[in-house]
Amino acid sequence: MAVQPDPEGIETGLLLKAIGDFAGKRILEVGCGSGRLTWRYAEHAHAITGIDPNPDLIAEATANTPNHLRDRVTFYAQSVLDFAPSDGKPFEVVLLSWSLCCLPASDMLPALQKLRALQPPDAGYLIDIHPRMVPRPLLVQIDQQEHEVAALVDEFMQLQYQRADTALEQAVAQQFYRLEAAAPFVFPVYFDSAAELLDYLRQNDTGLDCVCEPALEPALLRRVDEYLQLPGSNRYIVLQRPVMIRKYRALER
Ligand SMILES: C[S@@+](CC[C@H](N)C(=O)[O-])C[C@H]1O[C@@H](n2cnc3c(N)ncnc32)[C@H](O)[C@@H]1O
Repeated sequence: MAVQPDPEGIETGLLLKAIGDFAGKRILEVGCGSGRLTWRYAEHAHAITGIDPNPDLIAEATANTPNHLRDRVTFYAQSVLDFAPSDGKPFEVVLLSWSLCCLPASDMLPALQKLRALQPPDAGYLIDIHPRMVPRPLLVQIDQQEHEVAALVDEFMQLQYQRADTALEQAVAQQFYRLEAAAPFVFPVYFDSAAELLDYLRQNDTGLDCVCEPALEPALLRRVDEYLQLPGSNRYIVLQRPVMIRKYRALER
């Protein structure tokens, strides 16, 4: 089994519910990366523009675009702060897919203001998805039995999640958007081995020395392996990422 992020599609289900009616909607996905989330809703959308400042990720997303979606999905290697649509048309839906929290704190509110300006003057929705600022439970599951191994902390990113929450509150206070709905959920990531888990954390956490302590200590990885040796017919590692999805209505400008 390869690493499986949210194989049950919990995030996708909530996103589809939040967007609701896709008919004729132009969607701007900010921080699309290599298109992980894009592919999960693209079938439903009328037109998607995905932006990300990382050219390698955009090249990957472009190369991976299924043929039947090529006339519907376009990717650009650009920051949200520099982006302007070439046709000048507004976006009815703006989706921040785990990306607001990746901006420098001082860019977060300007980015939200910019996004509001890219939407119709009297309509539109903003959907934000980003992790919650709480530790992530790490479990080993053996058949029906769950063993909690640790609660992983990435101190820098947890601070960023809090800053993103604050920027969204400021965007509401400044009447760019009004909060319509919010739902916490757990985004599970499944692994077969401690090595797979380590690789995932290396790619997704900001650093290994301080941010995942004590989870990445060799002793803890050994503990994961020990649990995996327990008798049972079905075993795997689960990292439970607590996430929040919020839906905002654009206010008239
Ligand atoms: C945690 S990744 C999320 C990737 C993808 N949306 C997903 O859910 O798997 C955050 C992404 O935000 C992008 N990002 C960082 N700064 C950005 C900016 N100024 N404008 C747009 N995207 C940005 C990063 O390059 C990265 O790909």
